[in-house]
Amino acid sequence: MELLYAAFATLSVMFMLFFVNFPYFLHDCAFLIKVLRIKSKRQRLRKRVPLYTVLECFLEDVSRHPHKPFIIFEDDVYTYLPVDCWSNKVAHTLLKHTHLREGDTAALLVGNEPNFIFLWLGLMKIGCSVSLFNTNIRSKSLMRCFMCCKTKVLIAGAEFSDAVCEVLPELRERGVSVFLLCDNCDMDGIQSLKDKMDDSDDGPVSLMLRANITMKTPAVYIYTSGTTGLPKAGIVSHDRMFGGTFYQSLLGVKHDDVIYIALPLYHAAGFIVGLNGVIERGITVVLRRKFSVSQFWNDCRKHNVTVIMYIGEILRYLCNTPKRETDRQHMVRRAIGNGLRADVWQEFQSRFGVKHIREFYAASDGNMGFMNYPEKVGAVGKQNFLYKKMFPHALIRYDTETQGPVRDSRGRCVPVPTGETGLLVCKITERTPFQGYAGNPEQTEKKKLRNVFEDGDVYLNTGDLLRTDHQGFIYFQDRVGDTFRWKGENVATTEVSDVISLLDFVEEVCVYGFQIKGHEGRVGMAALRVKEKREFDCNKAFDHVTNFLPVYARPRFIRILRSLDLTGTFKQVKTSLMKEGFDPEKVTPPIYFLQESSKSYIPLTHTHYKSIISGEVRF
Ligand SMILES: *[C@@H]1O[C@H](CO)[C@@H](O)[C@H](O)[C@H]1NC(C)=O
Ligand SMILES: *[C@@H]1O[C@H](CO)[C@@H](O)[C@H](O)[C@H]1NC(C)=O
Repeated sequence: MELLYAAFATLSVMFMLFFVNFPYFLHDCAFLIKVLRIKSKRQRLRKRVPLYTVLECFLEDVSRHPHKPFIIFEDDVYTYLPVDCWSNKVAHTLLKHTHLREGDTAALLVGNEPNFIFLWLGLMKIGCSVSLFNTNIRSKSLMRCFMCCKTKVLIAGAEFSDAVCEVLPELRERGVSVFLLCDNCDMDGIQSLKDKMDDSDDGPVSLMLRANITMKTPAVYIYTSGTTGLPKAGIVSHDRMFGGTFYQSLLGVKHDDVIYIALPLYHAAGFIVGLNGVIERGITVVLRRKFSVSQFWNDCRKHNVTVIMYIGEILRYLCNTPKRETDRQHMVRRAIGNGLRADVWQEFQSRFGVKHIREFYAASDGNMGFMNYPEKVGAVGKQNFLYKKMFPHALIRYDTETQGPVRDSRGRCVPVPTGETGLLVCKITERTPFQGYAGNPEQTEKKKLRNVFEDGDVYLNTGDLLRTDHQGFIYFQDRVGDTFRWKGENVATTEVSDVISLLDFVEEVCVYGFQIKGHEGRVGMAALRVKEKREFDCNKAFDHVTNFLPVYARPRFIRILRSLDLTGTFKQVKTSLMKEGFDPEKVTPPIYFLQESSKSYIPLTHTHYKSIISGEVRF
């Protein structure tokens, strides 16, 4: 290791002369040194007996600073020691009341609250893998999540009792034991867990109970969002989970920081980078059940928060609030997350005075990540000389029509030149493994791209379109499959759906692009279901869409559907809707179109339709 550092020192002196040409050279070096340091630390810990996982890291925190606050939630503060005790109670309770043993899987349908953390740690203590269910999923998708990873036990938050009851007969048929986080439960087939935990011993749990776990054992299953079909359970091994804990360190989080997490713990960002990172750093997390625009800064002030985690929308919502005198009264000096657009980035930084914003790029079902360590506005990461060697990857040419990579005459993929958008593919190697999806070899294989640059090589198809600039900065452009082109722009259907679903009368929405003869690209349609006893409000929809979406992304058409089976095969629903087109005499009414001159959506008549088809009306 010393030799390497010495080599780096010499190298940096040599390159000083060229510094003007390489303005980010020192950033690159500092970052690489950190990466190498972490790498050697991981290699050391991998050899430890007994095994060293995130759990052991947590237990070290407990003995190092038992009385330091670990979780702050609503008005409660939990220091490290009591969290350890609570997780012991979980372990003892589950040993006593279930058949769960080492190697089994339990599922959590629990929101952001301390119990989530107690349960996860407790399950790790008895050697179980934990399936982290998205708390928004219901019925068919919920059952599907069970089927992917042979789950024996479901533990659900009390607020999800309806969702659980809905699938209870099926769960019982499969022999799944169901627990609800409450003190008593009079529903047949569901047991209460809170009371049992309260009564349980909080003494340490024997190491023997997890003696057979290895770094390759699945630690958690994280589901990729179900917007393009049914949810898939991404396998996160102990080794990968442990690797993920170092993101915070790489993103500049220090041992005395207080981090604010309002992102869901069932996603990789909130769970691995967020919570697991907190354990690696040994710091305090202010956990929020849900992001709240109005409470955000109050929370930060109250708890002296120094680091916040975001997704782009969070910072956009904060920027959309009226300016206040107190905007800069807080101690937040760092924001880490992803999906921040350049304009919001600058506005957020100048208005709230948050000094550092660091984007990162990573996916729960990916095998590598990027970080924007020089904090360049708009970028998700940066390439550098060594990183590419350590994590081989490429941007390759992608055909949006066939929705696949372009192959040359020899059948090889084609790297795009700097500045051009390409599909990110990352080589699958021993050091950068792809663990795939539990119980789904088909989807696992689908993510793999073979014979990319030479015979027999295998790359992971991230499904993300990125672009690099001449300095090596990486910019996120789009996600394939969920996007269509309109007016030379890529429209992300998920983003449009997210915005439209904020309308208070909308129950469900499905956004897609469809072709109209004589028009380039695809025109946007939002097919939606209106809430019971509510009506579609044309003006409100227009105002909302114009306020929140760029011109090209605003759906030109809105269709009202009576039913929209989003839990089924979403893609098929989309495809059949796409084929139906927009002829008001053929599709079930009503159908509206966006008319700028009336500042509203107006009902589409056959006359309108004809003039659009004939090309009289251009968009
Ligand atoms: C570990 O595995 C061995 C052999 O596979 C088995 O005999 C033993 O019972 C396992 N230990 C535990 C704690 O399950
Ligand atoms: C926050 O910091 C201020 C000033 O340093 C200190 O007086 C206060 O007690 C801190 N609050 C908390 C909750 O730590």
